[in-house]
Amino acid sequence: MLYDFHSHILPSVDDGSDSVEQSLKMLDILRDSGVDTVVATPHFYYSKIALDNFLTARDEAYDKLKEAMEGKEYPRILKGAEVLLTTDIPNMKDLESLCIENTSYILIELPYSYWSDWVYRALNDISLRGLKPIIAHIDRYTDASDRCIQRIFYLNCIIQLNVDSLTKLKTRRRALKYIKRGEIHILGSDTHDDLHRPPKFIEAMEILKKKFGTDIETMFEGNSLFVLNDEGY
Ligand SMILES: [Fe+2]
Repeated sequence: MLYDFHSHILPSVDDGSDSVEQSLKMLDILRDSGVDTVVATPHFYYSKIALDNFLTARDEAYDKLKEAMEGKEYPRILKGAEVLLTTDIPNMKDLESLCIENTSYILIELPYSYWSDWVYRALNDISLRGLKPIIAHIDRYTDASDRCIQRIFYLNCIIQLNVDSLTKLKTRRRALKYIKRGEIHILGSDTHDDLHRPPKFIEAMEILKKKFGTDIETMFEGNSLFVLNDEGY
């Protein structure tokens, strides 16, 4: 069973799905890929939207989609957010409300480059607050050197990889290297629509199983349940 920890599947809340119909198409693909649960993680930008407004928009989109899903078999959707890390985030009031539903795990998007000490300090401060940061799409940062990943590890963060990094030739080698070294805990599609950025679990899992054997899925399943059950630290 597969778990998708990163998706822009809720309709009309960010640059992801633009309609309920499109969200349903994305859910069709996820179900046919063997995904049991998908975490809806719309972008949260502290400087652009008040938390209350974000939560209201997210919950309304979720309710609308749930209504359209009635009577058909789809993956379970959990509410979450993709929170862009800024210096304001560690001390933000009610940051807990952006965690993955019923857990203290929170998906954090790092700046794409120029990681300096404030990034590590902010992650540490989020942990000290009792939350468990998940680093979103580690494959997408230019600053994710081996040394930086080691530092993240020491800060009790867990790491999410986008599955499309395995399907693209340009990024595959790097993604496989991370997995080989045991640096990837959970997977996500980061899907934004059903055509240009669809969920690519089927192709990615084929590549992973060919390289590491069929047990690799069990490993990711175990890690995923660990997160969803809010275990760890
Ligand atoms: Fe994303």
